[in-house]
Amino acid sequence: MDISIFGLGYVGCVSIGCLAANSHKIIGVDINKHKVDLINKGKPTIIEAGIDELIATGSKKGLISATNDARQAILDTDISFICSGTPSSPTGHLNLNSIYHIATNISRGIKEKDRFHIVVIRSTVMPGTNRKVAEIIQKESGKKRNEDFAVVSNPEFLREGSAVADYNNPAVTVLGSDSPKALKTMNDLYSFIDTTIIETSIEVAEIIKYINNSFHALKITFANEVGNICKSLKIDSHEVMRVFGTDNKLNISTAYFKPGFAYGGSCLPKDLQGLGTIAHDAYLKTPLLSSIHESNEYQKEIAFHLVTKYNKRSIGVLGLSFKKGTDDLRYSPAVDLVEKLIGKGYTVSIYDKNVNLSNITGTNKAYIDEHLPHLSSLITDDLKKVIHENEVLVITYREHEFENLIANYPEKIFVDLAKVTEDTTLINYEGICW
Ligand SMILES: NC(=O)c1ccc[n+]([C@@H]2O[C@H](COP(=O)([O-])OP(=O)(O)OC[C@H]3O[C@@H](n4cnc5c(N)ncnc54)[C@H](O)[C@@H]3O)[C@@H](O)[C@H]2O)c1
Repeated sequence: MDISIFGLGYVGCVSIGCLAANSHKIIGVDINKHKVDLINKGKPTIIEAGIDELIATGSKKGLISATNDARQAILDTDISFICSGTPSSPTGHLNLNSIYHIATNISRGIKEKDRFHIVVIRSTVMPGTNRKVAEIIQKESGKKRNEDFAVVSNPEFLREGSAVADYNNPAVTVLGSDSPKALKTMNDLYSFIDTTIIETSIEVAEIIKYINNSFHALKITFANEVGNICKSLKIDSHEVMRVFGTDNKLNISTAYFKPGFAYGGSCLPKDLQGLGTIAHDAYLKTPLLSSIHESNEYQKEIAFHLVTKYNKRSIGVLGLSFKKGTDDLRYSPAVDLVEKLIGKGYTVSIYDKNVNLSNITGTNKAYIDEHLPHLSSLITDDLKKVIHENEVLVITYREHEFENLIANYPEKIFVDLAKVTEDTTLINYEGICW
């Protein structure tokens, strides 16, 4: 394919080398004349393992050239990758000026073209950038999105230092587009890469890089705080994290990665607090670990706001235990929610088929006696009764019998803290994080 690459930095230069190595004809475009000259001399613009040879070989084969003439580059190619820099602005937002500048330049070429052109945003950008780039191109060129051109979001995941290897072996390749034609071409283009291609919405493709990198930063910080604590106890932190990493059911897995309500129960809050006290006793600060509780409490506040924002005074709570399939009420976020609602004068009734007060004993009983001493007058195992009695129903955990309630009771308002349904468009429905 004939491809133009806008921005000849780390991402652009590696893209040129790797795509040329797969026999594609590449034109690099940059406003920096020095970088354009380097590429035209068969030299890379960056230092990276394997890149010298890729650029030199591609140049010798006549597959690589560079220019600062964006218009001509568009006329001579069918796909353009935007790989320009997106630095932080003084307020922490991304500065997307280079992206919009390139979009304007691309429009000049697209205006004169009678072939379909695909613009691929490879840079890390804010959600909404894809649509804005398309708007610019539409306005400047007079051509129509998804008829004359398409814009695909395809975030780059390479790491400097292993960029060529990462380009050729990415963990996943994400494509966000609303053009089947463009997606087909992109799948063909990436057929040389051994990767899982994920086609998703434009917005998901745009935000995923932020989520990935924030999680990577979280992982490093988590390991460092664990390391500091372990050192203070003379425990081998690398062995701890090695053992931690071998659990790929609960630790290194998608477990617990479902946005929703706060955590609770008898273990997570207690053990998190326990580790915090070990750190405290060693005079260590653990800003990350210490913030987890605060974040969890904030999620309860969001749930309370959601349940009460409709100005309805009677609330039905579907699920009181800390998760489905148990009668454990200790540190259940639903107990906190009920306690706060009652404290603010709301009428509350509760359905939980697993909670039978006569069977609750020990610390579970002590906990509920302290937090909801009148629970027996609030709770029932009659789901229909709770639905009929209340105007707002809040679902606190995923349970099969809750799934169809939203559609079956259109006159009730459902607040879903657990994503019990995929149909989130019903007007009597609101999810906590979706
Ligand atoms: N460097 C990485 O490891 C990495 C990895 C993944 C994603 N990213 C993202 O990819 C993007 C590019 O990163 P990079 O490290 O390659 O940046 P870079 O700063 O190395 O290169 C950006 C290039 O864009 C050029 N440029 C700026 N405005 C231009 C314009 N109007 N027309 C043509 N060229 C223009 C610059 O001259 C420069 O050569 C950023 O959004 C970055 O966040 C970077």
